[in-house]
Amino acid sequence: MEKRELLYEGKAKKVYATDDGGLLVVSYKDDATALNGLKRGSIAGKGVINNKMTNLLMARLEQQGIPTHFVKQLSDRDTLVKKVAIVPLEVIVRNISAGSFAKRYGVEEGIVFAAPTLEFSYKNDALGDPLLNDSHALALGLATEEEIAAIRRYALAVNELLKEFWLECGVTLVDFKLEFGRLPGGAIVLADEISPDTCRLWDSKTHEKLDKDRFRRDLGGTEEAYEEVMRRLCEHI
Ligand code: TMP
Repeated sequence: MEKRELLYEGKAKKVYATDDGGLLVVSYKDDATALNGLKRGSIAGKGVINNKMTNLLMARLEQQGIPTHFVKQLSDRDTLVKKVAIVPLEVIVRNISAGSFAKRYGVEEGIVFAAPTLEFSYKNDALGDPLLNDSHALALGLATEEEIAAIRRYALAVNELLKEFWLECGVTLVDFKLEFGRLPGGAIVLADEISPDTCRLWDSKTHEKLDKDRFRRDLGGTEEAYEEVMRRLCEHI
């Protein structure tokens, strides 16, 4: 399937039309941003890793009963996906305190929760992706009650499946962000990516950070961390 018109260029990906109105090509870049766009840079080889990792995990989740937009990988950086209307919510699941949760509630990182938390942010760069709850999302018309229920159910199911799988790889799934989309018939499917850009992944033994926090916090070794989690995933998938 050939790439046609460039429809959208985001921070980490480009999206192209294809000759099939129901399909798009997503192309993963090495560009990285953090702090809502204030910090910009590049992580060499990230696009190739994020493309492959997302596809391996989406294919696995699909087999385990989670509907996704994934169709097939076309090349190192390009993937064919179903065209969806993205629900403008960032769906964040947390198993352990870190990042904005630790900051917002004034607690240290690394507190293991008895049960996962689920939160929504409104996907809106100009507003800085503000946190919002179900009733806010309904009031703003971002999703219906049924859609929110489906999103919540899928996100928690994805957490259980990914947490168990990453543990087999010697990696602790601390938290992650998902996005969902609507197919033309209205069905909700998992979209976007699942990668070290969108997940916090810690070495299970040493708690070393193996994700984008290395870039966000200038810890160094970002490329090596992405390669390391990819290597572990490939050994176990
Ligand atoms: P946070 O602690 O900064 O809220 O991030 C929670 C998780 O969501 C973390 O794994 C990183 C991911 N995330 C994104 O993928 N995109 C974003 O824009 C934000 C804020 C977080």
